[in-house]
Amino acid sequence: MRAKRTSLVHLIYFSRLNLSSDPQLRVNQLGDITRQAQKKNEFSVITSFLIIEQNFAAQVIEGERMSIHETFNRIAEDQRHRDVQICEWREITKREFVHSFKTGLRSTATETLFNKANLLPTLQRGTPKASTIHALAVSLQSDAMSKQGIDHLFI
Ligand SMILES: Cc1cc2nc3c(=O)[nH]c(=O)nc-3n(C[C@H](O)[C@H](O)[C@H](O)COP(=O)(O)O)c2cc1C
Repeated sequence: MRAKRTSLVHLIYFSRLNLSSDPQLRVNQLGDITRQAQKKNEFSVITSFLIIEQNFAAQVIEGERMSIHETFNRIAEDQRHRDVQICEWREITKREFVHSFKTGLRSTATETLFNKANLLPTLQRGTPKASTIHALAVSLQSDAMSKQGIDHLFI
């Protein structure tokens, strides 16, 4: 008999980044976050996608209920961002993200997807919808994967 899967949840939050205005320092700071988060998420079997839009962060994290609880408590206390607000926390039947920690930034390659989602004004007002964050994260992921030629796995 197949073992029953423990309960899977996703948590979607947004925050204001406290990162440097110097582009190179900011890249280094994001590199530090990525290294720490990747290692921890791999260990806790968490998959996630972090959207960065100007000085805002919006992240979807998925995994076993207790792992998400512990990870979010750590994330919420991190001084590299503030005003951390949960948009949605609920049970899910399957994961949507494949990487332990992946970041989607606005660039010429991703601009169309960012513009279509139009997340920034809602982040500025403090009223982003979980569904908009989730949909943008999914589309950024599939865009990146199809550029690597691995979209056929996700039909
Ligand atoms: C925007 C943002 C997203 C983060 N995402 C994660 C994450 O997905 N998983 C994680 O373990 N840490 C994440 N971190 C880092 C944690 O806040 C924390 O620094 C890291 O887990 C190490 O924790 P520790 O120093 O208490 O061991 C994130 C930090 C920021 C600012």
